[in-house]
Amino acid sequence: MFRAAVKTLSVATTTSVSRGILLSIRHYCKKTPAKLRVSEAVSGADLGAKVKVQGWVRSVRAQKANLFLHVNDGSSLLSLQVVASSELNDPLLTFGSAVEVTGTLRKSPHQNQPVELEAQQIHVVGECNPVDFPFKIKERHGLEYIRQFPHLRCRTNAFSSLLRIRSEAATAVHSYFKPSGPQNEEEENFFSVPAFLTVSGQLHLEVMSGAFSRVYTFGPTFRAENSQSRRHLAEFYMVEAEVSFTQSLEDLTKVMEDMFRSATEHVLAHCAEDVDLFHKHVTPGHRVTVEAMLKKRFPAITYSEAIDILNRSSEKFAFPTDWGCDLQTEHEKYLVKHCGNIPVFVTDYPYDLKPFYARDNQDHPEHTAAAVDLLVPGVGELCGGSLREERLDLLRARLEEAGLEDTYSWYLDLRRFGSVPHGGFGLGFERYLQCILGVDNIKDVIPFPRFSHSCLL
Ligand code: 4AD
Repeated sequence: MFRAAVKTLSVATTTSVSRGILLSIRHYCKKTPAKLRVSEAVSGADLGAKVKVQGWVRSVRAQKANLFLHVNDGSSLLSLQVVASSELNDPLLTFGSAVEVTGTLRKSPHQNQPVELEAQQIHVVGECNPVDFPFKIKERHGLEYIRQFPHLRCRTNAFSSLLRIRSEAATAVHSYFKPSGPQNEEEENFFSVPAFLTVSGQLHLEVMSGAFSRVYTFGPTFRAENSQSRRHLAEFYMVEAEVSFTQSLEDLTKVMEDMFRSATEHVLAHCAEDVDLFHKHVTPGHRVTVEAMLKKRFPAITYSEAIDILNRSSEKFAFPTDWGCDLQTEHEKYLVKHCGNIPVFVTDYPYDLKPFYARDNQDHPEHTAAAVDLLVPGVGELCGGSLREERLDLLRARLEEAGLEDTYSWYLDLRRFGSVPHGGFGLGFERYLQCILGVDNIKDVIPFPRFSHSCLL
């Protein structure tokens, strides 16, 4: 902007009007304080500079001579301490009010904050009645309480930390698969043709995997679930990957484990303060679980071994544990504990439990499919995936049995033309956040949870 202003000036210096412009631009360049985000202000890089900071008041303390505020703008967990003469006090300066503060950044005499803003001007941009505002100064509100205010909960430390972590975790997922970041996707116009919400991008990824040997997608996914659950949403985000030329399930488990580690290490490194807030105050002690998860390789057991473990345990389960039954959350959590409270892969599920695309292991007498779930502490199933049936005759027979061969004729085409062994998986992004932060209820890790309204757990 400065360069543009100077250019305009050199063209216009001949007239008195332009001299007027020159003066006012000089005035602008000299006097207008730089607008800084709180994270920039607290970094200490601009000590001595006159700056303007905008944000929301997190605390107010009025003493005889001085007024102290903490101002936060979401750029960091840290708030900026503002020190002002008590003449600048205003009854509208309350917890939650929006303010604009102009002043000079100084080294703070206090140890726990390197920088403070010595205010020359404080402008209340938006009032906040502290009696009506549902969050109270200095009170630590629980996740369950703040969930009642989805439109306001991002004003709390815990939820703003969660949102910064969520954003960083999404970056980590994209950079794991594609180091240069997400691509712009072109918008499609669906007017006047029926539109559907996807339950999974898998089949479309399989189309792509016929030409691109490693593909992934990351986006909203929809399920008509009426589940009274702390780990189900009607709209959630899923990371899905598809790998061509696979030789075994290990080709998939390796990607799942690498992605989990790389995303978690990224989040721990880039959101250290926000994660600490969770691990110290919201879910105390969870840090140890996360560190243990990253220490060891994730073990793998087969479904049949899992059933043996469950049947040998003294635990009383609500759901049956016979071979052929689906694993329930209670079983998954038990298996995780049994394996040392670290993520564990369960492979080779009964063929009849899995969808038509799962690859037939053609084994006897226990007929299984090459499917895999990753179970994690506190949550249970985090990822589900399989090798896909790439053999045309087997896939066609299974689709015919289900009366689906016409609907999926295009899918059979993928096996007719250059079919290769391939497989993939999906990871529930909200469950991932629950897992690394230790959050019990999935509704606390997404800004606007959509779920069945009969379920207010
Ligand atoms: O196991 P799912 O249903 O797998 C698929 O949809 C495959 N087609 C994915 C693939 O192979 N490309 O879902 C994958 C993961 C689950 O392990 C779980 O973490 C999450 O998605 N998930 C949900 N998360 C929140 N709410 C729900 N209702 C979920 N349903 C599944």
